[in-house]
Amino acid sequence: MSDGRGSVLRAEDLVGGYVPEVDILNGCSVHVDEGELVVVIGPNGAGKSTLAKAVFGLVDVRSGRVLLHGEEITGDSPHQVTRKGMGYVPQRENVFPSLTVNENLEMGFLAGDSKHLDSQAEAMFALFPRLGERRRQRAGGLSGGERQMLAMARSLMSEPSVILLDEPSAGLAPQAVADVFRTVLDVNESGVTVLMIEQNAQRALTIADRGYVLEGGVNRFEGPGRALLDDPEVARLYLGG
Ligand SMILES: Nc1ncnc2c1ncn2[C@@H]1O[C@H](COP(=O)(O)OP(=O)(O)OP(=O)(O)O)[C@@H](O)[C@H]1O
Ligand SMILES: [Mg+2]
Repeated sequence: MSDGRGSVLRAEDLVGGYVPEVDILNGCSVHVDEGELVVVIGPNGAGKSTLAKAVFGLVDVRSGRVLLHGEEITGDSPHQVTRKGMGYVPQRENVFPSLTVNENLEMGFLAGDSKHLDSQAEAMFALFPRLGERRRQRAGGLSGGERQMLAMARSLMSEPSVILLDEPSAGLAPQAVADVFRTVLDVNESGVTVLMIEQNAQRALTIADRGYVLEGGVNRFEGPGRALLDDPEVARLYLGG
């Protein structure tokens, strides 16, 4: 397994939280190598979303550091982090419901002329055909699964090298869950490195190269997806097995 040197994304011993003196992250570390799909699982309140927010510059990091392509980005704003090549899809409210699919994609576009914008949007419609069929519809009228795909597509408009996905399958019907997981794999196979948080642990670990189990803001287990699935303690504690 990789030791994480030369990783696309690396979070080291993160401590931090939302208000002073209350740490939610208590020294957790993750890394994602070029081309990997890495999954973070753990119980409700484990700090999974907080970890993503800390990496993306939305939560105060009191100690530890975040590296993107080896460059320290700890404390950078989300805007700076986006410009440096990271995409982030939050767990909730990740599309603008009153805007159309096209307009949502435009919001994720960072720079370039309208021709570049159009070609980027077309690239998204190739990856997410259902969005192409609905490009002039408002996001609020999409199904849950389509909305998650739009959120992912929006984050990809800035051509990131790595994206953070916070529970893309949350609250979806079984068929939509399958579609979203398939799409995450497609995105990963298109060359985007992925760090995905999921409560659908079994399924997520099945498609992951590696996984982490987070609890109480620290790493409890880590390893290849298959190894975590086969670990009796992980199964008993976190997979309902
Ligand atoms: N904006 C906030 N302000 C203060 N505390 C927060 C905030 N968001 C989350 N917390 C607290 O941080 C802790 C970890 O929350 P977090 O959302 O990171 O958990 P999670 O692992 O993502 O859980 P879930 O599986 O339910 O999404 C919880 O105790 C939560 O109450
Ligand atoms: Mg969460």
